[in-house]
Amino acid sequence: MRDEASLPVAPVKGAAGTALAHDSARKHVTGSALYTDDLPELPGTLHAHVLPSPRPHARILRMDASAARAAPGVHAVLTAADVPGEVDIGPVFPGDPVLAPGLVECVGQAVAAVAAETIEQARAAAALIVVEYEDLPAILTAEEALAAGSFLSPPGVMRIGDAAAGIAAAPRRLAGTFSIGGQDHFYLEGQVAYAQPREDGDLLVYSSTQHPSEVQHLVAKVLGKPDAQVTVEVRRMGGGFGGKETQPALIACIASLLADATGRPVKYRMDRDDDMTMTGKRHDFLVRYEVGFDERGRILGIVLDLAARCGMSADLSNAVVDRAMFHADNAYFLGNAVVTGHRCKTNTVSNTAFRGFGGPQGMAAIEYVVDEIARSIGRDPLDVRWVNLYGRSDRNVTHYHQRVTDNILPELLDELETSSGYRFRRAEIDAFNAGHAVLKKGLALTPVKFGISFTATHLNQAGALVHVYADGSVQLNHGGTEMGQGVYVKVAQLVASEFQIDLERIRITATTTGKVPNTSPTAASSGTDLNGAAAIDAVRQIRNRMILFLAEHYRTAPERVVFRDNRVLVAGEALTFAQACRLCYMNRVHLSAAGFYRTPKIWWDPKEARGRPFLYYAYGAAATEVLVDTLTGEYRFVRADILHDCGTSINPAIDTGQVEGGYVQGLGWLTIEELWWDAGGRLRTHAPSTYKIPTGRDVPIDLRVRLVANQPNRERVVHRSKAVGEPPLMLGIGGWLALKDAVAAVGGHRLPVHLDAPATPERVLLACEDLRRRIPAASAPAGPAMDR
Ligand code: MTE
Ligand code: HPA
Ligand code: MOS
Repeated sequence: MRDEASLPVAPVKGAAGTALAHDSARKHVTGSALYTDDLPELPGTLHAHVLPSPRPHARILRMDASAARAAPGVHAVLTAADVPGEVDIGPVFPGDPVLAPGLVECVGQAVAAVAAETIEQARAAAALIVVEYEDLPAILTAEEALAAGSFLSPPGVMRIGDAAAGIAAAPRRLAGTFSIGGQDHFYLEGQVAYAQPREDGDLLVYSSTQHPSEVQHLVAKVLGKPDAQVTVEVRRMGGGFGGKETQPALIACIASLLADATGRPVKYRMDRDDDMTMTGKRHDFLVRYEVGFDERGRILGIVLDLAARCGMSADLSNAVVDRAMFHADNAYFLGNAVVTGHRCKTNTVSNTAFRGFGGPQGMAAIEYVVDEIARSIGRDPLDVRWVNLYGRSDRNVTHYHQRVTDNILPELLDELETSSGYRFRRAEIDAFNAGHAVLKKGLALTPVKFGISFTATHLNQAGALVHVYADGSVQLNHGGTEMGQGVYVKVAQLVASEFQIDLERIRITATTTGKVPNTSPTAASSGTDLNGAAAIDAVRQIRNRMILFLAEHYRTAPERVVFRDNRVLVAGEALTFAQACRLCYMNRVHLSAAGFYRTPKIWWDPKEARGRPFLYYAYGAAATEVLVDTLTGEYRFVRADILHDCGTSINPAIDTGQVEGGYVQGLGWLTIEELWWDAGGRLRTHAPSTYKIPTGRDVPIDLRVRLVANQPNRERVVHRSKAVGEPPLMLGIGGWLALKDAVAAVGGHRLPVHLDAPATPERVLLACEDLRRRIPAASAPAGPAMDR
């Protein structure tokens, strides 16, 4: 008898490892993908609008909503006093009232909510609400908070070795301060929720959220209902970038409160200005450092102080600042280090998760310091990066005492240094800069090492629900949410591989708390790692039941039942997958399973600040070249070479897209995206007219992205892949340092340069002018007339 199980395997279509377009790509580009605001509106739907606080810190002395209540089309006006359940919707710690209860702590805080028949009526009515405020002193910046001792929690400290002794004994020392700006998420789809009352006080909420379970829980909490009465569903988001990890709760809770109060379906869709004013952003940081190093630039001791502007409440700031501290080494061994993180409480909107979750700020900080070290000793910054890089067998313990055991950066950097022509181009750029007084070029090659796992250990779990129907078609559901990153198709590819059936047989379904409960946010880049593993667990349960039944039915050993090429081979017989499913169904085999996964090996002791917070690290590097007009400060990124590590990629097309998008978003953060608040604590950059995100013209003209080949994840992660959602953002740090390099050329690379982020054209120009003032007249480089 021929043993079919031993025949070579033809991969099924769309299996894990195949480069495929996003499952919704066609719908995205033709405009037929349905987002929350596109769902058909039920008859009687009302529209919500919220009155935001115009004051950064004030007591509410009096509020009169009578005119608003009497306004045309209005069905409800709610204040904190009207909330039937709990007012506070803080995700981890209290401090985020859904509507302000007598005190406002930032401009944009929700004060009252209106539901009316049209959005215009809701807006007009909100304007009729009379509020009398008594202003209180406001703290707006991290500096002011540090000076006033205004913190949300005590400082966090991570240490290794003896930093003070290391610095004292070092032949060279530097100290300084710089700032790193925040960032608006600028997801294309703004925040939106649509709440629909169902029977017996149940509620169905469509929410554009990365965290359906948290929205469910907080909606239930403000309504004073059990979680089981609320269902939250999301088919897709038009981008989240961390901005929809906690922030959607406010929008969904307000829609739900109004739906509950009126008995009508209520939609709350923020317009862009409200969204930018009222929801949290990336934390801006103030960095202070003192570092001791040797003649080659090797760090011998460092004290690094990271102060984050957290805004009015804790939100996720504890974890964000933790992750900043965890990444204050980036790729470098800091044998003697003290890293301190401050959570500054300010009267500004509460800052939140944003791609990288504090990691980018920590990494930008150390990269800036390494750049400063290199310039102070006149060495190429890349050489200083090399001497500080984590070792393989020694110099491989982080300042939180996790050993780095999977470091591929030595090969990765070596390969990129060669493939990008770094050394050759460095010489070319030096020659160019010597010959041009106005135009200056800069180049920076920076590495990325990013820890994968939620640092809150309990979040590292996921569930999935897989149904196999009697016709052999499969429905897949899991806790992961789709925001454009491709988690749906990647998990489906894993399921296709596991069942050995073509991807097209698997239906991807919307994420809902009704199918998989108690889910973690789709965040920390772990969507595919966690939900993919949970889905595989579900598939294996079903497959095992099928195998046991078929073996018995055909009187053979379970090992002789093999899933392959859309068929099930049983002791020489080949059933189609559909035939096998029907046979199982007819014989009462359970063809549905809930899968579960929890990340192994990780632990964290917050008291000692040591442990293994990360299962593994994802690596990458970018070499970025920029051309600067030093008379205007304008610049253009001319070339970027990127080499990024996705382990064994589940979908190289999607992953490459993540690398490109992440890199450009990182570039935008550190260069052109500038948040600007006035002295009254009002954000003045609250629309694309004043807040500039990168467009096609800001992408490097020559962008060369490659994924690292033949480096499977050494941990048992699905398909031996690596998480890719956030790590590439930090490749953008090189863009900032390339600009610093170009500016330094104005002073012939002999004078120190200060360049805060974002390095907007304005800041670049000021830095160039500052340098020109400091150049001794005699040695001033040739003026514009000499330019070629
Ligand atoms: N890619 C797109 N297109 N849109 C997004 O909103 N969010 C990023 C990243 N890539 C995002 C994205 C962030 S912040 C995270 S944490 C991950 O995707 C989340 O998805 P994953 O865990 O499935 O990678
Ligand atoms: N990353 C992203 N989101 C999170 C994390 C994290 O480490 N912890 C809690 N939410
Ligand atoms: Mo991403 S900041 O972890 O949502």
